[in-house]
Amino acid sequence: MALPRKNPTESPKWQELQTHYQSLKNAHMLDLFKEDPQRTEKLSIDLDEMLLDFSKNRLTQDTLNLLIDLARDLDLEAGIDKLFKGELINETEHRAVMHMALRAPRNKTMTVDGENVVEEVHQVLDKMKAFTARLDNKTWKGYTGKDITDVVNIGIGGSDLGPVMVAEALTPYHRPDRQVHFVSNVDGAHISQTLAKLDPETTLFIIASKTFTTIETMTNAHSARSWFLQNATESDIAKHFVAVSTNLPGVVEFGIDPANVFEFWDWVGGRYSLASAVGLSIMVAVGAENFTSMHEGMHAMDMHFLETPLEKNLPVMLALIGIWYTNFFGSETEAILPYDQNLQFLPSYLQQAAMESNGKMVSRDGVNVEYNTGTILWGGAGTNSQHSFFQLLHQGTRLIPADFILPINPQHKLFHHHDLLVANAIAQCEALMCGKDEQTVRTELAASGLSQDAIDRLTPFKIFNGNRPTNMILLKKLTPYSLGMLIAAYEHKIFVRGYLWNIFSFDQFGVELGKALAKALEPELTGPSKPELHDPSTNRLVELFKEYKTY
Ligand code: F6P
Repeated sequence: MALPRKNPTESPKWQELQTHYQSLKNAHMLDLFKEDPQRTEKLSIDLDEMLLDFSKNRLTQDTLNLLIDLARDLDLEAGIDKLFKGELINETEHRAVMHMALRAPRNKTMTVDGENVVEEVHQVLDKMKAFTARLDNKTWKGYTGKDITDVVNIGIGGSDLGPVMVAEALTPYHRPDRQVHFVSNVDGAHISQTLAKLDPETTLFIIASKTFTTIETMTNAHSARSWFLQNATESDIAKHFVAVSTNLPGVVEFGIDPANVFEFWDWVGGRYSLASAVGLSIMVAVGAENFTSMHEGMHAMDMHFLETPLEKNLPVMLALIGIWYTNFFGSETEAILPYDQNLQFLPSYLQQAAMESNGKMVSRDGVNVEYNTGTILWGGAGTNSQHSFFQLLHQGTRLIPADFILPINPQHKLFHHHDLLVANAIAQCEALMCGKDEQTVRTELAASGLSQDAIDRLTPFKIFNGNRPTNMILLKKLTPYSLGMLIAAYEHKIFVRGYLWNIFSFDQFGVELGKALAKALEPELTGPSKPELHDPSTNRLVELFKEYKTY
């Protein structure tokens, strides 16, 4: 059964939200707190290892009621049901979307097109665990009989960003006897600089590619293979190359032993695949138990999303708040600000997840939408980002809603550092909301002994308007479990938004054109130009390249 086609702007609730926006757009959050001292308690969701405080947003309970009414009017609950029933909701690719099955316990039933897929998921997990155990207990040896000390994941996009992000986030959980590396960019610097540090006798490569045709991954995989074969022979490849793919013939053609292929399925989108065999590098880095714990956190969030009424549903709330800013306040971007150095790659991971999913201008009816979809997502770890782009968050002209992600307990023992980090995260949200008014600025400048003339001149530059919204996502501690919860929460947030925007979130045709043109253009860099194929600017760039290249 197809997803409904409902233009959200035609819902009466959308019109009501527009009217409501007019009455609320100038309200200051500080006044909303004065009106309702219980606001923080009311506007928060406490869930297991995670707490979402969304009280510092420019909305009231009326706003939330209207947003939830809108979601109901657009049949969100039925949409969530279709997602979890494994219906073919990725209609343009005629596929189900069932990444939730990747982290379901073995005794659970999750179906794709009527078939339970959980058992086959666990068979692959068993294979991953057996492989990891052989590395752990040193029975998997390299071709000269040495232990494997380095594992290199070669992949890009969803076959890289999730594993990179999780492996970094769980750094304290890494096994000390092994290093995991990630190579993604087709820029030869990436693979050559990585290989320069490695020994082919003790290095194992995981070639992670759903399609096994992605040009970057294949180019890097072939370079890795050539590097390895400088001393080893073809028959040694089985001990040093494994693959994660849905394309078994492609893997075999590359020369990898089919016994060393970790399978996944077309109902797993690349950007939703880190819980699948694509996460093999994560399991290798942190061990099977921690990988399972991440699955448990993801599953807990999946069940919360499926079973909790919209009013208390954490991913739904994140999504609705986002729609409020994007479609009513006209916000263009959203910042993701993890206050944890080990979550530094979370923004880039979520960029792909959100922007490749919801960066679409055509509705499920196949016509152009007349409202904004897909926000521009960006960010960086605090406190570093405070010293780079926070100026614009505090005093820039745009309204940029931000998610602060803050683990309450650190992964290390330098507690005085952590107290400072926490103080900064909480204080930034306070500053963004409260700001500093003109009177306070004038009083402070006068107290510093400035002349009246200097006070008048400087005051405008020192005012903070405040009223800038933030969500605070607290984790009791950054663990495999809480990280799993966090990832699944954002995945479902993305689903809800795409669903309500009436777009298809699970294809990515927008990445194809550039790929195809690069493939066509590459031979012209070394062979005859074909100006008839291109525009004048493109032709000029090709000629400039040929004129100046020295290799
Ligand atoms: O960039 C497009 C894309 O298809 C992503 O959706 C995907 O995550 C990435 O390329 C890698 O694809 P594959 O795993 O097939 O190599």
